[in-house]
Amino acid sequence: MSDVSSNPASEGLPPEMRSKLALALDVDDLVEAMRLAKQLSPWFGVVKVGLELYSAAGPDAVSAMVDKGFDVFLDLKLHDIPTTVGKAARVCGALGAKYLTMHAHGGDAMLRAGVEGLAEGAARAELEQPKAIAITVLTSDSDAPEHIVPNRLRVAVESGCAGIVCSAPDLKNIRELAPRTLRVVPGIRAAGSERHDQPKAVTPEQALAEGANLMVIGRAVTLADDPAAAAAALFAPLG
Ligand code: C5P
Repeated sequence: MSDVSSNPASEGLPPEMRSKLALALDVDDLVEAMRLAKQLSPWFGVVKVGLELYSAAGPDAVSAMVDKGFDVFLDLKLHDIPTTVGKAARVCGALGAKYLTMHAHGGDAMLRAGVEGLAEGAARAELEQPKAIAITVLTSDSDAPEHIVPNRLRVAVESGCAGIVCSAPDLKNIRELAPRTLRVVPGIRAAGSERHDQPKAVTPEQALAEGANLMVIGRAVTLADDPAAAAAALFAPLG
């Protein structure tokens, strides 16, 4: 039995809620990432392996988390020519991650190549095909014009991506435009708490009410003196 499923349900959230919460393992050390993931597993069924951890530990970061029973959100934000993205996605498709991100800005041919690469890699490894998740606009891009999110959403859907990353204020519009597309939302904070560099922070219950399917949460818990206590408080309204 995995470490994750052996946590008594009474300590955290039920499995269907844990599968909507992704812990951002934004650290440069796999041992520290494993410690955080284990400590916070009563609340998080998904872990995000992003550029920092992947640069430090590579594919081992994915397999280590999969072995512990987590769904892995591999946030590599692929963006290159279609051939290169397709080949990289083929490698990623065989790692056992459940999600892989790529930039919608890369366009239709690039996203299609990414989706096909994921399918090929997963088939070769006899794994379930990871879901391609398109990044609409980086939250740091404050100059992005308003029409850009719907445009990138359309490209993502047409090229076969299963989901998109968007900010909470975009959720309602995206739900109406593409109801079957998975909506992944960062920028989650407890009401009235430190926002760090997140300009559009919302609480987990607000994000869920607006239609988020997966919430990516990092510093609100990882920077706390007691991460488990911070998670328990942040997610108490969801229990
Ligand atoms: O802010 P927090 O630590 O919860 O960030 C979790 C994830 O959200 C990060 O790993 C990053 O991918 C994303 N993020 C974002 N915009 C920011 C800060 C972080 O989309 N301004």
